[in-house]
Amino acid sequence: MDFFRTRRVYRLLPVAVLTTCLLWAFMHFSVPDHNLYPFGSDPDFPFLGGPPHYPHAYDGHPPPPPFRPPPPPGHHPKTKWSARAHAVREAFQHAYGGYLEYAGSGDELKPVSNESVNNFNGWRLTMVDSLDTMLIMGLHDEFDHSIPILANMTFALGEGEFAPFFETVIRYLGGLLSAYALSGESILLARADDLGTMLLPAFNTTHGLPMYAVNTVTGETRSGWTGSEILWAEALSCQVEYKYLAHLTGRKEYFDAVERIMKLMYDAELEDDMFPTKWSVRTGKPSNDQFSVGAFADSAHEYLLKQYLLTAQSESKVLDLYTRDVASILRNLLYVTPNRGLLYVTDVSRGTPSHKFEHLSCFLAGMLALGAHTLPLAPRDRELQQWAAHGLAYTCWITYADSEAGLGPDEMEMTTPPKGEGEAMKWLDAVAEWEQEGRPGGAPPGTRNVPVARGPDMERDYRATKTGYLLRPETVESFYYMWRTTGDETWRERGWAVFQAIEKEAKTSSGYASLWSVLESPARHKDEMPSFFTAETLKYLYLLFTDEDLIPLSHWVFNTEAHPLPVFHWAEWEVERYDITTRDRPAKHTEPY
Ligand SMILES: *[C@@H]1O[C@H](CO)[C@@H](O)[C@H](O)[C@H]1NC(C)=O
Ligand SMILES: *[C@@H]1O[C@H](CO)[C@@H](O)[C@H](O)[C@H]1NC(C)=O
Ligand SMILES: *[C@@H]1O[C@H](CO)[C@@H](O)[C@H](O)[C@H]1NC(C)=O
Repeated sequence: MDFFRTRRVYRLLPVAVLTTCLLWAFMHFSVPDHNLYPFGSDPDFPFLGGPPHYPHAYDGHPPPPPFRPPPPPGHHPKTKWSARAHAVREAFQHAYGGYLEYAGSGDELKPVSNESVNNFNGWRLTMVDSLDTMLIMGLHDEFDHSIPILANMTFALGEGEFAPFFETVIRYLGGLLSAYALSGESILLARADDLGTMLLPAFNTTHGLPMYAVNTVTGETRSGWTGSEILWAEALSCQVEYKYLAHLTGRKEYFDAVERIMKLMYDAELEDDMFPTKWSVRTGKPSNDQFSVGAFADSAHEYLLKQYLLTAQSESKVLDLYTRDVASILRNLLYVTPNRGLLYVTDVSRGTPSHKFEHLSCFLAGMLALGAHTLPLAPRDRELQQWAAHGLAYTCWITYADSEAGLGPDEMEMTTPPKGEGEAMKWLDAVAEWEQEGRPGGAPPGTRNVPVARGPDMERDYRATKTGYLLRPETVESFYYMWRTTGDETWRERGWAVFQAIEKEAKTSSGYASLWSVLESPARHKDEMPSFFTAETLKYLYLLFTDEDLIPLSHWVFNTEAHPLPVFHWAEWEVERYDITTRDRPAKHTEPY
């Protein structure tokens, strides 16, 4: 009997061998390599399946809960929007072509003089910052051209040279990681890992708050213009990149370095949940009492939400911080102007609002829209955040529509009531008043359309205090989130108007230029094209116009330089190894907060 059974097994052997070969061949050839990135597998949703090398993806966790996609734009022919997306793609090719031709071994193009400038380390910033835009736009030749150059990168700096930590993380590290996630090109991960390690000495301070800048070769660090203090935005805009890098590489030091900063935030004693804009590197504590969503703080607010979303809504402590932070922003920083009823966000020092409104702060509309769309909020909170998102994005739009160049100024001072005629109106008070009156008109304060005030001597309810337009993305970024979360096509039309103004006012023979003043047309060109123009501004415009939802917000999280990173689940062993506090599992070693 035994003999017989063995014989049967032997007869099955050729079948088994053949099956194994076929399976191997199938698996081998279906893994994408760098000539075969996932575009085209489903032409309508090329990224829907997530990145090709998705580590520990099948650990038993369901994918993050999907949310309703916006209704597809029905009443417009598809060709109108695809033609517009195509025009943005051509703008990218113009800008990037000019960069390669005149500045290809430097950081950024000077688009008037056709020269090159190294503003950030001289490691070809515009190339690294634009990789994922190329992938999203299907510009495979441009992408392939960059790979051998990136393969050579050493991130070396000479003695006495320093890489600014914050900018290097969000632009270079974020750019490499995102392009890796979209393409599966392993060289990009290798370079991201190199750079991630070379920047680690920045965290080598008493409490782990990063130094302003670091020499990537010697590990020597340097402080910036704020001395021994760092800005809140600098401390809290590396968690998304380093947590994803820890997940890809299994290097605990990456996770620990950025989570140590989060622990300072969990333990901070705050007044009215207002995170101050400056922190002392020596004491690990706040060192001023300014609360802002502008330049000093902006992406720190954003990274509270985004690290929660990136790790599939698992890290419960950070959700609590974000919820408290947003409530405090709504309570303390939102106002409406007295005449046109424009909603704006400002900053407060020692309780006193400045009534300054920065273009940079226009990101807030998109952040609120994203949070309201994805988080498990109480209905009242969701409603308020959606209204605020709408009103802020609308005000940002109005500052573009009002101006002679059709582009928004970099900073404004908002009008407040004349002396003796009452205080500036807090937005929440205006909402409460409107609700007490029975919600007249249906639309809450700050969300109502007003006539455009273009032309000299128009009463705009604000005065531009920095009149330039620096090719910044925040307004079209928020239009993108508004469009994707509401399905209201008005935001696309506004984005198209912005793009046309950029074409008209900012285009040069070799690229696109920042403008000295939006209060004149034709506007005078500044000889600079920041890398965020191709990394962010053109990417958000392109994604605003493509009919396909190329980067679904349920699967991807944009870092603050518009580099999308894939939502991932911490595996059980990672939760143990990094001691992550999740909804179901308290941390073992940290103090309660
Ligand atoms: C810059 O390059 C463009 C395109 O090649 C060219 O038309 C223009 O004259 C150049 N400008 C200068 C200042 O060299
Ligand atoms: C990479 O570096 C090598 C050695 O320095 C050099 O010969 C080669 O041309 C470089 N390749 C690219 C694409 O920059
Ligand atoms: C951290 O800094 C200390 C002193 O400032 C130095 O001795 C040590 O080598 C540094 N460690 C790393 C990993 O850079």
